[in-house]
Amino acid sequence: MAERVLLTGAAGFIGSHVADALLARGDRVLGVDNFDDFYDPAVKRANVADACRSAAFTMVDGDVRDAAAMTRAIAAIQPDVIVHLAARAGVRPSIAAPAVYADVNVRGTAVVLEAARAAGVQRAVVASSSSVYGNASRVPFSESDAAIQPVSPYAATKRAAELLCETFAELEPRLRIVSLRFFTVYGPRQRPDLAIHKFASLISSGRPIPVYGDGSSSRDYTYVTDTVQGVLAAIDRTRKGDVRHELFNLGESQTTTLAQLIALLEDALGRPATIERLPAQPGDVLCTFADISRARDTLGYAPAVPIHDGIPRFVAWFRDTAGRGAVAPR
Ligand SMILES: NC(=O)c1ccc[n+]([C@@H]2O[C@H](COP(=O)([O-])OP(=O)(O)OC[C@H]3O[C@@H](n4cnc5c(N)ncnc54)[C@H](O)[C@@H]3O)[C@@H](O)[C@H]2O)c1
Repeated sequence: MAERVLLTGAAGFIGSHVADALLARGDRVLGVDNFDDFYDPAVKRANVADACRSAAFTMVDGDVRDAAAMTRAIAAIQPDVIVHLAARAGVRPSIAAPAVYADVNVRGTAVVLEAARAAGVQRAVVASSSSVYGNASRVPFSESDAAIQPVSPYAATKRAAELLCETFAELEPRLRIVSLRFFTVYGPRQRPDLAIHKFASLISSGRPIPVYGDGSSSRDYTYVTDTVQGVLAAIDRTRKGDVRHELFNLGESQTTTLAQLIALLEDALGRPATIERLPAQPGDVLCTFADISRARDTLGYAPAVPIHDGIPRFVAWFRDTAGRGAVAPR
């Protein structure tokens, strides 16, 4: 059944893939994005270039913190569901600019949810992050963990946004919300500030890669098509009348150390990396590892691209686009 979807953060890495997938299944999409300069806005314009060729897609320059703009966007498409992905992303930069992160990620989410509630929109899917788990001692991370010790402002804002979803669902019984904790997403169009993209740019141009810590930190890397499958399943889940607010981890449930990741990139790029070893960074967690049993059982989420397949696919895209994204300052 084709639906009308309001998609915030549509021009971003994950948002643009979600837009493409929604269009492919016949939905109508209104994307909202403020094209901020966290990374080059031209990259974001390119992300949505294909979607913009579709008559079923409308792109609006707008800020999720602007209540009037959100109300207008909702009135324009009258969405069946809002998919709220817009955020200020990035763990380390959040330490230098906590107020910006709180403003976009917490206030912005409140504005989106309030505009949805006021317009009688009944369904929302909201992006959260594995970072909410902090340095949890129990792995893999489970949605039933308390997640009350975030170690970066970014993580705290994503946890706060989840709690807002909980409150809105409590206060407005017609509103059904699914929050999704994404675990380090990578693939074509990956944000240029994230390790895989940044390392690929540096290794392929013969420059040293900054490696924080001893290389033993590990991540549950998720290929973007798997994340998108989880987002679509979450959208479908919000059609179920008994959902109020639900949380799901979306990872691969596999961990890869930083040293293993670098080796995979060296293999795929056919070049050795020069490593510049630096101290571990505040805000970084040692490990992320998703328990995905809830998403498997409830959403039918079935991640299909393990890291040893995903990295060569990423590198193929990276070569095709000649590393279009600029390397963000470290
Ligand atoms: N990429 C990951 O590994 C990852 C992991 C966990 C969670 N997430 C979350 O997933 C979502 C998408 O992340 P991404 O990696 O695609 O990041 P991204 O930066 O590529 O996309 C976010 C988009 O939101 C837009 N945006 C920022 N502030 C806005 C505002 N005030 N109003 C409107 N638009 C605004 C940006 O211009 C950007 O296009 C975010 O909520 C992020 O926190 C991402």
